[in-house]
Amino acid sequence: MFICICNAIKDVELREAALACDGDVDGVYKLLGRIPQCRQCVDDAEEIITEERHAKGVGSRKPPCLAALAALGAMTDSRVGA
Ligand code: FES
Repeated sequence: MFICICNAIKDVELREAALACDGDVDGVYKLLGRIPQCRQCVDDAEEIITEERHAKGVGSRKPPCLAALAALGAMTDSRVGA
């Protein structure tokens, strides 16, 4: 099911990203390479992110989303350079 129409983000994708980092909707969207536009999805997205983290017992133990994004970039850079 699509949660964000502007960015074509599905709930499955959002739940996966929510578990990869600790941050708000903007941070999780950034991790997915997207930026909220109309923001009509933000409340629902926030609810899903919170629900998923609570269900899996994660949260502040994960790196901030921007740090997770930087780590992904570093991994990609090292693969490109290898
Ligand atoms: S529906 Fe998500 S930014 Fe518009």
